[in-house]
Amino acid sequence: MCGIVGYVGTRKVVPVLLAGLRRLEYRGYDSAGIVYNHQNRLVRHRASGKLSELEAVLDDHIGVESSIGLGHTRWATHGAPTELNAHPHSDCTGDLVVVHNGIIENYSSLREALKQKGHTFCSETDTEVLAHLIEEHLIDDLAAATRAALAQVEGSYALAVLWAKDPETIVAARRQSPLVLGTDAEACYLASDIPALLPYTREVVFLDDGELAVLGKGQYSIRQLADGSEVHKESTTIDWTATMAEKGGHRHFMLKEIYEQPIAIRSTINGRIMPETGRILLPGLGISDEVLTGIKRIVLVACGTSWHAALVAKYWLEKWTAIPVEVDIASEFRYRHLLLHEQVLTLVISQSGETADTLAGMRRAAQFGSPVLAICNAVGSTMAREADGILYTHAGPEISVASTKAFTCQLTTLFLFTLYLAQLRQSIDPAVQKELGLQLIQLADVMSALIKPMQKNMQAIIESYYEARDFLFIGRGLNYPIALEGALKLKETSYIHAEGYAGGELKHGPIALIDADMPLLALAPQDSSYPKTISNVQEIKARQARLIVVGSEGDSQLAELSRHHIFLPKVHEELNPILYALPVQLLAYEIAARRGCDVDQPRNLAKSVTVE
Ligand code: AGP
Repeated sequence: MCGIVGYVGTRKVVPVLLAGLRRLEYRGYDSAGIVYNHQNRLVRHRASGKLSELEAVLDDHIGVESSIGLGHTRWATHGAPTELNAHPHSDCTGDLVVVHNGIIENYSSLREALKQKGHTFCSETDTEVLAHLIEEHLIDDLAAATRAALAQVEGSYALAVLWAKDPETIVAARRQSPLVLGTDAEACYLASDIPALLPYTREVVFLDDGELAVLGKGQYSIRQLADGSEVHKESTTIDWTATMAEKGGHRHFMLKEIYEQPIAIRSTINGRIMPETGRILLPGLGISDEVLTGIKRIVLVACGTSWHAALVAKYWLEKWTAIPVEVDIASEFRYRHLLLHEQVLTLVISQSGETADTLAGMRRAAQFGSPVLAICNAVGSTMAREADGILYTHAGPEISVASTKAFTCQLTTLFLFTLYLAQLRQSIDPAVQKELGLQLIQLADVMSALIKPMQKNMQAIIESYYEARDFLFIGRGLNYPIALEGALKLKETSYIHAEGYAGGELKHGPIALIDADMPLLALAPQDSSYPKTISNVQEIKARQARLIVVGSEGDSQLAELSRHHIFLPKVHEELNPILYALPVQLLAYEIAARRGCDVDQPRNLAKSVTVE
């Protein structure tokens, strides 16, 4: 939800800002803009549409002599994605500009009050009030004026301010939206997310809620917004590299990230399973074994794809630890009447660690004394820092809006956590645990051998189905959430209307949709639900649906029943959801690419949803 970059140093600023925005474009791509200080004057360029539109406008300004500036890529909340509504937004004089990610909730009363005082507004955005409000307080100290203005503001923000009359300073602040500083000897960088900093530095400082930073050439200071007191923070060295956030020869990030899954899963498992014994080690978990042993209930909270990972984990956790599990969509959980206490573990799952609803959910759970464990991919994210315990997924940076490798790494981590809890509570036979652990280790190799041939063999299916208007997915048990995930992947990347159902639910309504035009993909591995799934497949075939099955290698019965089949090697049935995620991801990718869709940046979406 909007990406912010800032730079003050010795380099020419325009290329630094554009490179940063390029890496943050996944956060919003309705419009973009930059501002830099040139000879004590602020020069602003904005364009509606994708970043390439702004780049075209900036063709003649790449080499401009300026080494301080801000950039923004927008996901519209207030006001259409026009050039006038694009950030940066300026005060009345044009000497002060603001870029912002978040929502100013009291903007309309502030705007009215500022208009009364003679301020003129040019956009429909909530952000513009920030520029005028800071202008109202500004005498000669930009940081003090920003602090005073923010004291009047309700809502969420990560923001950065530039003032023509202070040409070597950027002021930034955050409340409920992410912001990270990058540092080196000669410069300071600012970004909504780490990938924007990676080409320049891996030394980062995470800004916390209620903090304000003043950035200069190679130096910065941080203060509390509330009382102005100084905050001393250690920097963190990030182990992601710049190339990890590039396409590496693939046509889209989504495809690259699908291909990266075996490596990402290996990194997620690395050092967490002892191959000789199958024991699980989760050092630095942050929640003691004693607390975990006393847990009476687990509540899983997440959004979107991460919620699908939670649905799979319910099956695993209940089966192997015998602890009752609830799964909640974060936007529902945060407003629900909660029955939580110290012996209920709240487990939040998020790739970004910044999703507003999930964050709010975890904060509410903490108010009840529930220990909170976060499963996150983004290092140093708000969730990772605020939770009592953290398990990182080690998928590396995920850029495509459609989540793929983060999902299978979430599943891997949830499976590891299940085994860890089962081991602690002695609810699993050690021999079974060892077998499951070893199979999980081998799974990455199975996937690695599979992706390329699967992509190739899928082409006939893509040609038959890429023009479909609707698509159904079914699965049972552990594969039901994968049916939901397949439908979500397809709809978000290709805009085909798609729904996922539990196989047994079909005859309670959705079967009415089936006719000879309806494509239906059935997940049908030879697992314990297989006989029931076959009955569903028969029912579907009897109604002439265009049936694709994804099943176990050599299943001739399935091959006969379906028009198309994708066969996968047999693995332990507990691991099927990780393996069966692959074909539904690839199918969605290939169909979207065949339809000429903007695969990595689907319309109306943004990678991390930092507003409610
Ligand atoms: C996944 O493909 C989606 N784009 C989306 O559902 C995503 O999983 C959801 O917004 C949650 O994000 P998070 O994992 O960063 O919290």
